[in-house]
Amino acid sequence: MMTPDQAEGLRRLVQQSQKMAPAPLSSSGQAKTIAIMSGKGGVGKSNLTLNMALAIAKAGKRVLVIDLDIGMGNIDILLGKTTTNSILDVLLRKRPFKTAITKGTENFYYISGGSGLEQLFSLDTDQWSFFLKEMEQMVREFDCIFFDMGAGLSKDQLPFVLSAGEVVVVTTPEPTSIMDAYSAIKHLAINQFEQSVQIIVNRCKTSSEGSETYRKLAGVVSAYLHRKLVFAGAVPDDPAVSNAVAEQIPFYIKQPHSRLSKTITLLADTLYHQQVREARREQHTFIDKLSSFFKRRKMDS
Ligand SMILES: Nc1ncnc2c1ncn2[C@@H]1O[C@H](COP(=O)(O)OP(=O)(O)OP(=O)(O)O)[C@@H](O)[C@H]1O
Ligand SMILES: [Mg+2]
Repeated sequence: MMTPDQAEGLRRLVQQSQKMAPAPLSSSGQAKTIAIMSGKGGVGKSNLTLNMALAIAKAGKRVLVIDLDIGMGNIDILLGKTTTNSILDVLLRKRPFKTAITKGTENFYYISGGSGLEQLFSLDTDQWSFFLKEMEQMVREFDCIFFDMGAGLSKDQLPFVLSAGEVVVVTTPEPTSIMDAYSAIKHLAINQFEQSVQIIVNRCKTSSEGSETYRKLAGVVSAYLHRKLVFAGAVPDDPAVSNAVAEQIPFYIKQPHSRLSKTITLLADTLYHQQVREARREQHTFIDKLSSFFKRRKMDS
């Protein structure tokens, strides 16, 4: 059990610096982009995103988390911080990304979500090209960018998911969560998402529950959508997660050597390195794909 002093010390560590320092270029030249989504809400996306991002940052990579959960954005709450700027300042008010980004810990940065992302589809050409230019710079300056999505898949979030180098669907072993994950994957398939979707099974009560859940989901996806999935891994159900939420200190910072944190390190490492391979092979970058949405949108209108 932590003393209030220790908790305060950790919180201060998390709250160290508000603004982003001038950034060096990423070591890889192009950030790996990873979208974390789910069908059902409350399955653990934000906690997994945040703690995996911290794991990659601890390994010396520059990581940015972009909270795209419109209206319910909560990465800053999980960190015990309040931020004034959000992704909407960049999108709607043409403010540079750097003014909206907050430093969490060494190598770890984030940008808060905010309500109004649905306006993405009514941005004018100026706003959109400003956003793309800024995004392009972020892709150069970071090694890894996570998008923490809201539950389901709204029209506004779709461009980010379909452009990401890696898409991860989080489910729990509950049948309702598995069926909602299936619906989310079907939605991706309908929108011509051709890459393999990665699956994380969160809140597993036994060591076999993760692979059993994955097998069920992979079975229906194969039977009805004729697609293959990739099992990224399973995360145990652990009260440390809700304790971390209550204390507003990520469990990866509070208990870096716990079984849960070790699982997160492995998972983050798998996703990050898979992405590195994918990025080398991929000719169409995240930015190419994102900009094609604007062109398509213009043609549709
Ligand atoms: N591995 C876990 N073990 C125990 N509890 C967990 C675990 N993962 C998540 N939880 C619980 O689930 C809650 C919701 O987690 P989180 O906010 O990360 O979900 P989310 O998918 O981002 O939700 P939303 O869809 O609302 O954005 C947490 O506050 C925590 O109480
Ligand atoms: Mg969330």
